[in-house]
Amino acid sequence: MADNTHFGFRDVPLGDKQALVDDVFHKVARRYDLMNDLMSAGLHRAWKDALVTAINPPTSDRDFHLLDVAGGTGDISFRTIKACGFNTRATVADINAEMLGVGRERAYAQGLDDVVNFVDANAESLPFPDKKFDAVSIAFGIRNVPRIDVALKEMHRSLKIGGRFLCLEFSNVDVPGLDALYELYSFRVVPVMGRVVTGDAQPYQYLVESIRKFPKPNAFAEMMRTAGFARVSHRVMTGGIVALHSGWRL
Ligand SMILES: C[S@@+](CC[C@H](N)C(=O)[O-])C[C@H]1O[C@@H](n2cnc3c(N)ncnc32)[C@H](O)[C@@H]1O
Repeated sequence: MADNTHFGFRDVPLGDKQALVDDVFHKVARRYDLMNDLMSAGLHRAWKDALVTAINPPTSDRDFHLLDVAGGTGDISFRTIKACGFNTRATVADINAEMLGVGRERAYAQGLDDVVNFVDANAESLPFPDKKFDAVSIAFGIRNVPRIDVALKEMHRSLKIGGRFLCLEFSNVDVPGLDALYELYSFRVVPVMGRVVTGDAQPYQYLVESIRKFPKPNAFAEMMRTAGFARVSHRVMTGGIVALHSGWRL
């Protein structure tokens, strides 16, 4: 029997998930950045800034190359480049041509197209040599990947020895009061907002469901260790709405 996985709350064959995910991001690509601001009331900017601080790009002219997996429209890469010195470059790897297309336009508009490059790639089989990158990040991307264990191994393989892996992902709200409010907001407000802004509620219904299905921080930490990461840790932000996971290739 074929292995099954989750697409939101639906049980689907493992081999079907990627096409369903691709359809979601194909539909939302043009409104993706606007929806991030609306859904998170701008908070995603602070969460992404915390990720960039942890990436710690050099402010000197030391060479530094970030790989941002499932990097979509390039937000993490742009923020990293703006926070650093002259010799930092970023590679955005994403499976969705529409998201990459919006990212390329944004890079061009900001004059960053010579330092940020966009590569059509599946996180489960990254087209990069071993030990190439100084840091590897993935923001709000890992829960969309069908075989998380395979993607983690690929990101570990792509990191230089001594390099840091950082994963920003939605997590579990465990603050009494906030949890009920967050539940209500996620399932009642976000899909409606999605329908008003993008004309379709379904992609946003998937997004909130996929958040519920993602492993809890300690379980995800164990998956990172199994993939080979050392000194694995995480910290939660905004009452547990998101978690920033960290591991090293040593
Ligand atoms: C919620 S978006 C996050 C985009 C970006 N990291 C950000 O924080 O704004 C998730 C991204 O994961 C990408 N994605 C889904 N499955 C993937 C896979 N197997 N390999 C690479 N990217 C994937 C989607 O195309 C989409 O761009």
